[in-house]
Amino acid sequence: MRILVAGGAGFIGSAYVHRRLAAHPGDEVRVLDKLTYAGRTENLEGLSRDQVELVEGDIADADMVSGAVEGCDAIVNFAAESHVDRSIHSPGEFIQTDVFGAFVLLEAAREKGIRHLQVSTDEVYGSIPSGSFTEASTLQPSSPYSASKAGGDLIVRAYHHTYGADALVVRGSNNYGRRQHPEKLIPLAILNALAGDPIPVYGDGLQVRNWIFVDDFCAAIDVVLERGQAGEVYNAGGPDELRNIDVVKAILELTGRDESLIQQVSDRLGHDRRYSLSSDRLRELGWEPEVRFDAGLARTVDWYRENEGWWGPIRSGEYRDYYERQYGRALS
Ligand code: NAD
Ligand code: TYD
Repeated sequence: MRILVAGGAGFIGSAYVHRRLAAHPGDEVRVLDKLTYAGRTENLEGLSRDQVELVEGDIADADMVSGAVEGCDAIVNFAAESHVDRSIHSPGEFIQTDVFGAFVLLEAAREKGIRHLQVSTDEVYGSIPSGSFTEASTLQPSSPYSASKAGGDLIVRAYHHTYGADALVVRGSNNYGRRQHPEKLIPLAILNALAGDPIPVYGDGLQVRNWIFVDDFCAAIDVVLERGQAGEVYNAGGPDELRNIDVVKAILELTGRDESLIQQVSDRLGHDRRYSLSSDRLRELGWEPEVRFDAGLARTVDWYRENEGWWGPIRSGEYRDYYERQYGRALS
């Protein structure tokens, strides 16, 4: 099978490519990626050029997409602007990639008559004070990021309903693991703790996220790609829900730092309080998350400790300016 993996040079997309090719050595993957600040060729290192081809390009560019999809049997779309805080400052880029780009890919898949799997997020449902969202829950996105992702999901639904396109959606909860950009909470807290920098906690730190180890989400994506029904949505939630402050405390413990590094900062605009996903539909297809948070977090801390070659260039590059603008203080 040859799969077009859009956004395959990012955090989850690259984890998916590594996993897919390890499990299916006969497969080929073509990665289509714009290589934004979040996409890195390093993320695909160690893979054979016979199995992976990287095409640098924008999913919103119809000519580029039509060339990239040639000869492929399915599309898995990870390509997106993915960070809520950036979406608050520059929403237009999110709408362009996460809505219009998703449409361009979907249109190419429909023309070729191949399966299109849209990788989406629990954030499209908005915040839930108790209980868990199912696939039938109303979409109530709160940020420009989640609204854009919801837009992509709804186009998938419409394409199936109107044209009978073989398209479907998988929605994951908050992922963590190796090769995640340090703009996101867990790698940010790990790298700041290792460097002895303060760790910014938004508001009261009591917001709850439903954490899933990235390999568990990638396994869910493969199950949906292979056994999911066209037109359907499948939730993939992790096994653990934690308050942000408890995530940060666990990282401080694993890195041997004390709580004096915790720095309360002003809250994110429109900050969702709690996410929680019910994954019963995916369980019926035989999927189960395997990695509990404590074990996955320890593995993640070890990976960052051992891979300064990966994060060093990020932490000394453009990210420093982003960090200073976002948090009003410099990294050490
Ligand atoms: P990421 O930001 O690490 O990677 C995104 C990738 O998409 C990068 O390689 C980037 O270069 C590429 N990209 C961005 N715009 C592009 C464009 N216009 N054309 C082609 N490529 C483009 O994101 P991630 O955390 O790996 O998330 C991947 C997908 O999974 C996203 O669709 C996201 O919404 C979804 N998701 C993420 C999480 C999470 O916790 N990170 C949870 C659930 C779902
Ligand atoms: P993040 O990793 O950005 O993911 P998302 O917003 O998609 O859930 O943030 C996870 C949680 O951590 C979220 O509630 C916001 C919070 N957070 C902080 O408290 N401090 C930070 O510096 C960051 C980046 C996030």
